[in-house]
Amino acid sequence: MHILVTGGAGYIGSHTCKMLHQKGFVPITYDNLSTGHKYLVQWGPLVEGDLRDQAKLSKTFAAYPIKAVIHFAAKALVGESMKNPLDYYSNNVLGTISLLEAMKRHEVPYIIFSSSCATYGHPMEVPITEDHPQKPISPYGMSKWMIEKVLLDMALKQQIYPGILRYFNAAGADSDLMTGEDHTPESHLIPNILLSILHKRPFYLFGRDFSTKDGTAVRDYIHVTDLAAAHILALQWILEKHTPLCVNLGTGEGFSVQQMIDLCRKITHKELEIIDSPRREGDPAILVASNQKALDCLKWTPQYSQLDNIVTSAWEWHKKKP
Ligand SMILES: NC(=O)c1ccc[n+]([C@@H]2O[C@H](COP(=O)([O-])OP(=O)(O)OC[C@H]3O[C@@H](n4cnc5c(N)ncnc54)[C@H](O)[C@@H]3O)[C@@H](O)[C@H]2O)c1
Repeated sequence: MHILVTGGAGYIGSHTCKMLHQKGFVPITYDNLSTGHKYLVQWGPLVEGDLRDQAKLSKTFAAYPIKAVIHFAAKALVGESMKNPLDYYSNNVLGTISLLEAMKRHEVPYIIFSSSCATYGHPMEVPITEDHPQKPISPYGMSKWMIEKVLLDMALKQQIYPGILRYFNAAGADSDLMTGEDHTPESHLIPNILLSILHKRPFYLFGRDFSTKDGTAVRDYIHVTDLAAAHILALQWILEKHTPLCVNLGTGEGFSVQQMIDLCRKITHKELEIIDSPRREGDPAILVASNQKALDCLKWTPQYSQLDNIVTSAWEWHKKKP
């Protein structure tokens, strides 16, 4: 079964392509390589193209017998979205509408969509369940929320069968080290700590005045291989049930920035210079998922998301990364 994977040259997309291939699917990566890399596309063909290029999309749907789409492609930096909101609405919202038009034309109604905990904004309670109000506080989060609404409206008319997956913090790397996180600039916590250690440069800690136990922000880290597995289960769900799905993907446990720094020091046996800096605009104090719905509906069990495993796999990857 051929699956179009937009953003398959990126971090989560490449791990999912590996797993799709292992399970007997053929992943066709569609990616403009704006933040992704050719070297991460190893488990199926790469079509270099932008989501907003209708002609390229049509050609791709005509060239392969595509059954479903897993849609990762997006700009995904909260801070950048605050500075350049139009880029985010153009790339993420217009890009997805262009993809949906191509899917409609080629009669492909199944889509798994990478949404985000950023759609919840500042949570009113944690753990966050799927029915928590969605009040995004950045253009990035808003772009994801808008796409969710488009998908759900189309689903009402049975024009599309969406699986909406709201990830919390993706982290870690493939256990064979064939793929991993390679972002420039890197905005995620664990790679930033590890890269600071590796390159002996200071680490900037944004905010010690949050209302958390140690004053640093708390997040829910989910191993990227567990995320990949959830995509396959969600794909099976929409193919079989023809019912829209919307689930959080996290572990249900929160860890503070300070705890992550301590763990990275312990695992790497190295020191790290910390520079305390003010909070970043739009950073909530705590984001922790309730993952009960994903556990119940998808029978998904995170297997790789123990914190030690996340940090160790990421450390091994960053030491070896090209
Ligand atoms: N990494 C996380 O912790 C996290 C958390 C929540 C949601 N997400 C979402 O998951 C998805 C994947 O995230 P990631 O960390 O792997 O990001 P990534 O930047 O590594 O991957 C995104 C890929 O999409 C491609 N792309 C972007 N815009 C495109 C366009 N217009 N046309 C074609 N290709 C395009 C990029 O080149 C890149 O390969 C994104 O949609 C992101 O918003 C990620």
